[in-house]
Amino acid sequence: MRVAMIGAGYVGLVSGACLANLGHTVTCIDKDTGKIAALRRGEMPIYEPGLAELVAGNVAAHRLFFTTSLAEAVKDAAAVFIAVGTPSRPADGLADLTCVYQAAREIAHTLRGYAVIVTKSTVPVGTGDEIQRIIADIRPDADLSVVSNPEFLREGAAIQDFMQPDRVVIGTDDARAREVMYELYRPLADNGTPVLLTARRGAELIKYAANAFLATKITFINEIADLCEQANADVEEVAHGIGLDHRIGPKFLSAGPGYGGSCFPKDLLALLKAGLDFGVPIRSIETIISINDQRKRAMARKVIAACGGSIRGRPIAVLGLTFKAGTDDMRESPAVAIITALQDAGARVRAYDPQGMTQARSVLNGVEFAHDPYACAQGADALVVMTEWKEFRELDLRRIRCLLKRPILVDLRNIYRPEAMAEHGFTYVSVGRPKVQSAT
Ligand code: UGA
Repeated sequence: MRVAMIGAGYVGLVSGACLANLGHTVTCIDKDTGKIAALRRGEMPIYEPGLAELVAGNVAAHRLFFTTSLAEAVKDAAAVFIAVGTPSRPADGLADLTCVYQAAREIAHTLRGYAVIVTKSTVPVGTGDEIQRIIADIRPDADLSVVSNPEFLREGAAIQDFMQPDRVVIGTDDARAREVMYELYRPLADNGTPVLLTARRGAELIKYAANAFLATKITFINEIADLCEQANADVEEVAHGIGLDHRIGPKFLSAGPGYGGSCFPKDLLALLKAGLDFGVPIRSIETIISINDQRKRAMARKVIAACGGSIRGRPIAVLGLTFKAGTDDMRESPAVAIITALQDAGARVRAYDPQGMTQARSVLNGVEFAHDPYACAQGADALVVMTEWKEFRELDLRRIRCLLKRPILVDLRNIYRPEAMAEHGFTYVSVGRPKVQSAT
């Protein structure tokens, strides 16, 4: 099947490459001429494990193409995906749908026969109706269906999430469109993936509700972690104990510095604002957003307390800058707010990240960047682990211990065992677990 994918960002590029890998002929379209030129040279605009190889394989098989010409790609496509960004509007926090509606207008001018227009971008409930209206205004004769097909791709695991999803959601009441969409995802359905057929508005809401629920789970365990610290209990045990209940499930119960990224913060805000527009204030979401915001400064206070109450003039080493491991994405990374708070308290911050250094340099001010974790730790008063990179789990802790001026390690992702850290002679502070004093 011929597919046009408008937007070669995270979602568009991964979805386009994966659909090509399922056997379809996919053209990814982007207005950014530099990005398209780079993609044609085989250079990826983002760090995503396995993506470069997947793209290269499907380009070589003549199933995946890149262009800046929307008209060229859309005119013969059976399915036209809209996968452009929907950032928060600075004025009110609602999703900015400018690019989505612009894409709809451009599609309208190029449509020939019947086509299915598929919204992959995360859009508020009712956006599909508006896309349909925009296209019908320009081309009353156009034969089309507008479908909501949300994505559930985690950065760092996006290809696996596309190829082995928990479900595929197809939101439309239109039988013709359902057939096209089913055909598109048939290889996944044949492998046992549940394909959920819903109304369009239901599909649009499923996406927001899923992200909001996951963010709620994280925020809940973070608060339980705070309680564990005061009550001298271990949050890992509590998370394990509740996660074994099938009604709760074990995933997204890792306590940490708060959620970040390009999705949860913006989607929760958009859901909250959309709720208000419908006259439905979703108080739980409002609370989750506020708890998560406050958590970042609280994490900085945790570091200051671990250092004895003051970090003024002190060098502090930070490992991990991106919003989580497995990505180079700095958007809404808790590390930014935490580092800023440490600097506000007078610390001199030196940092290292396996993939995020380039992006971090443009976001962080006054931070010294180290070329590896050991150079980062050298002479620091404390080492703060901000993300759960495998590289950090495998550090030579004896060496780190010798390099640090004071053996204080604040682990905001609980990647080490407290007992092992005590044996190594660290004063070890983690999240929701008993503090361990250096054995030496
Ligand atoms: C998230 C969702 O997981 C995807 O299903 C969704 O498609 C995507 O947003 C999107 O809307 O496009 P992503 O933002 O890549 O994916 O990251 P997650 O792996 O969900 O992590 C989000 C944040 O929560 C990170 O800061 C992470 O460190 C944090 N987190 C996650 C925790 O603190 N604890 C956990 O147990 C899990």
